[in-house]
Amino acid sequence: MANEWIVASAPGKVILAGEHFVVKGEPAIAMAISLRARAYVRFREDRDIVIESEDLKVRSVPTRGIVKEELIPIVSIVNKIVEMSNCNRGIELRIKSEIPPASGMGSSAAVAVACAAALNELLNLNLGLDEICKIAYEAEVIVHKKPSGIDNTISTYGGVILYRKGKGFESIQYNIKNHKFILADSGLPRNTGVMVSNVLSLYSRYERILKHVYKASRELVMMVVDALRKGDAEMLGDLMNINHGLLSAIGVSNAKLEELVYIARMSGAKGAKITGAGGGGFIVALVDNSSYSKVMNALRTVSRRVFVTEVSKDGVKIEKDN
Ligand code: MEV
Repeated sequence: MANEWIVASAPGKVILAGEHFVVKGEPAIAMAISLRARAYVRFREDRDIVIESEDLKVRSVPTRGIVKEELIPIVSIVNKIVEMSNCNRGIELRIKSEIPPASGMGSSAAVAVACAAALNELLNLNLGLDEICKIAYEAEVIVHKKPSGIDNTISTYGGVILYRKGKGFESIQYNIKNHKFILADSGLPRNTGVMVSNVLSLYSRYERILKHVYKASRELVMMVVDALRKGDAEMLGDLMNINHGLLSAIGVSNAKLEELVYIARMSGAKGAKITGAGGGGFIVALVDNSSYSKVMNALRTVSRRVFVTEVSKDGVKIEKDN
C-alpha cells in the first residue's frame, strides 16, 4: 500500500560479563532481552525529513535546519541511508522504545539499529545485517565517543554473543534452564562515555595493577561461556559475583549499586552484578524460578523499577503486523 508505516524493532541487552574490559580488546558476553526499541518509517507527501522520539519527547526536521541534540545520532543514520539510496522524497521516522534510556540496557544502540533497518526496508536498499550493524555503530560513536561495538552487535543479531572489539562475535549456546534475570534500577543518572573515559584514565595511571584485573576478566568471560554451554546456573551466578568485584575494582560501582547487588544476593539470587557502564543504571541478578518472587519483592523495596527478562533469540527484525 502506498503510504503504510514500516516498522523495525531491535532488542536491548544485558552484559553478562566483561563490560568495560571489552573497550580495551578483552572479550565480553552480551545477551539480547525482551525489551525492544521500534522505528516507524513512511514517505511524506512533502520533501521534509521529520524525526520524532516519543520517549525523549523531541522532534527534528533536518531538512529545515531543526536538529535537537538528542537526535543527532539518528539524523546521521538518516542522512547516511538517504544518501546511499539517492532518494529525494520526504520521510517520517518515529521512535518508540521499551528500553529505559541511560540504563545500561543498550537503548541508544537498539534505537540506532531499528532506525537503520526500517530505513533500509523503506528505501529498498537490501543492506545486510553487517551493514546495518556498522551504520548503527557510527551513530554509537556520536553518543558514547569510544564504544566497543558490543551494544549494536547484540541488538542486530540477538541471542547470546561472545564479542571481541575489532574481531567480531560468535553466537554462544545458552542452556541455563528454569532461571530468569531480574533487572533493578539504581535511579542514578550516568553517562556511558564519561564512565568509559574514567576507567581508561584509571587504567593509564595504574596499569601495573589493572592489567591483571583485565586478564582476570578475560579468563572469567571464557568460564562464563562454559557455564552457559553446560547450563550450570550455580557457576554462572558465582562468575557474575566475581565480575561485579572486578567492576568495583575499576571504580564503576557505588553505594546504591552495591545495595541492589547485596539485596538481590541476600534474598536468594545466585549472582548479581552491575550491567553496562555502571555509575548508575541497572544491576542484573540471576534467579531460579523458586526464589524469583522473593528477590523481586526485596528489590522493589529499594528500587523504583524492577523488570524480569529472559534471553531473546530475536535480533533486529521487520515487524509484519503493526
Ligand atoms: C557497553 O554497554 C558498556 C561498556 O562496556 C562500553 C562499551 O562496551 O562500549 C562500558
